[in-house]
Amino acid sequence: MTDHNSKTVAIYSVPKLRCCQLTHRKSFIIAICFIFILCIKYVSSQYPLLVILKWLLMQHNVDHSPFLNVTGKPDVFPDRMPINLTIAYVADTSLWKEASLLYNLIRSESQIDALVVSGDLDYVDQPLAREHLLTKYFGSKFPIFSCAGNHDHNFWPKYQQTILDRWKRSGIHHKCSGIIGVAHMCTYKGLIIIQIAPGIFEKYRFYDYSQYLENQLNLYHSQWKICSWHKNQHNMQLGNKQDETGYDVYNTCLKHGAMIITGHEHSYSRTYLMKGLHDPIEVLSRNSTYIQLSNGSSVVIVNGLGGFSVSGYTNNSIAPYWASVNHANINGHASALICKYNFNGNMKQALCYLKDIVHGKRDQFIIDVTNIPMS
Ligand SMILES: *[C@@H]1O[C@H](CO)[C@@H](O)[C@H](O)[C@H]1NC(C)=O
Ligand SMILES: *[C@@H]1O[C@H](CO)[C@@H](O)[C@H](O)[C@H]1NC(C)=O
Ligand SMILES: *[C@@H]1O[C@H](CO)[C@@H](O)[C@H](O)[C@H]1NC(C)=O
Ligand SMILES: *[C@@H]1O[C@H](CO)[C@@H](O)[C@H](O)[C@H]1NC(C)=O
Ligand SMILES: *[C@@H]1O[C@H](CO)[C@@H](O)[C@H](O)[C@H]1NC(C)=O
Repeated sequence: MTDHNSKTVAIYSVPKLRCCQLTHRKSFIIAICFIFILCIKYVSSQYPLLVILKWLLMQHNVDHSPFLNVTGKPDVFPDRMPINLTIAYVADTSLWKEASLLYNLIRSESQIDALVVSGDLDYVDQPLAREHLLTKYFGSKFPIFSCAGNHDHNFWPKYQQTILDRWKRSGIHHKCSGIIGVAHMCTYKGLIIIQIAPGIFEKYRFYDYSQYLENQLNLYHSQWKICSWHKNQHNMQLGNKQDETGYDVYNTCLKHGAMIITGHEHSYSRTYLMKGLHDPIEVLSRNSTYIQLSNGSSVVIVNGLGGFSVSGYTNNSIAPYWASVNHANINGHASALICKYNFNGNMKQALCYLKDIVHGKRDQFIIDVTNIPMS
């Protein structure tokens, strides 16, 4: 009996086992397919198709033409500044929906005079497609100031050509000098805008950007000065970006009371008023809504929310020197920093605010330059 029983068990269990193995294999294959689809879905949500294609096809393609220079004459003393001169600051911009929504948001301002872009212009090396998109939203003569980011460096001469062509159409090239997007400066309606590219080009690795800033800031006079570049020091952004610029470029701008605007990390962060930057970072004044610049103190603002992606806050300890932030963990979206200089006719003040395509205003502050010497 016992023998018979165990045989029966054996006879039944063999086909049962086969059937189960088959199911396991099937579900294994289904699981693999599922994971594969999830991976594809994740990758394509992070990097749209164009970026993946570019990465696959164009990795080693580089334009070796010489960099383009512009040889205009910036105003030594500032031009008259119109009331509410409105400048939008973005970086890490894309060619897809979020960028269009962002450009639309910027365009919906009651007044908009220029756009300043701190690098990473489209991620797919398509300067003409970028121009096309900008023209669609702002027109072909709208002034746009751009510098190079790490995703632009392979085709920078081509970007330079589109930047210069636009400057010529808008007539602002007469007031710009330098290597376009690498080390150039422009004066525009009373503002000094200097853009550099520390940490971007191997060829310009040892270019003395700090000395360039010092020379330009001594040569040209205005109480309103903007320093713009792409990369950061680790402590001057919310994510995992490394020290890639050195503090010298920051400190040269702070010394002259120039606002510092960068990108690279895909979030927004704005410091309190800072006197000088070195580790550990020390804050000069903690008034987060009224910032009184002097030659010796200014603010650092990162806005990499140009419509490519939105990153979270990857440093657990919220650094005590940030006055305001916008990032994925607090449901941030593509955003533009907008500043109105000569605000309501007060030459010494600018109203700045961050506008998010979903939430509207997320940060607002006044910049005051009363204490910056005129010359
Ligand atoms: C632009 O200026 C840089 C540095 O001064 C120089 O190396 C480069 O050759 C210039 N480019 C052209 C097209 O003249
Ligand atoms: C910030 O400064 C302004 C202007 O001096 C002042 O009215 C305001 O009370 C200050 N805010 C804080 C929190 O100190
Ligand atoms: C700030 O300006 C004053 C007056 O022009 C000047 O004496 C001083 O050296 C300047 N400080 C810096 C750090 O440039
Ligand atoms: C987080 O930020 C603090 C304050 O700036 C800094 O000391 C620390 O090194 C950062 N940690 C990481 C993991 O980035
Ligand atoms: C300047 O901008 C403010 C805020 O948008 C607005 O209330 C004011 O009317 C503007 N002033 C002028 C002269 O356009």
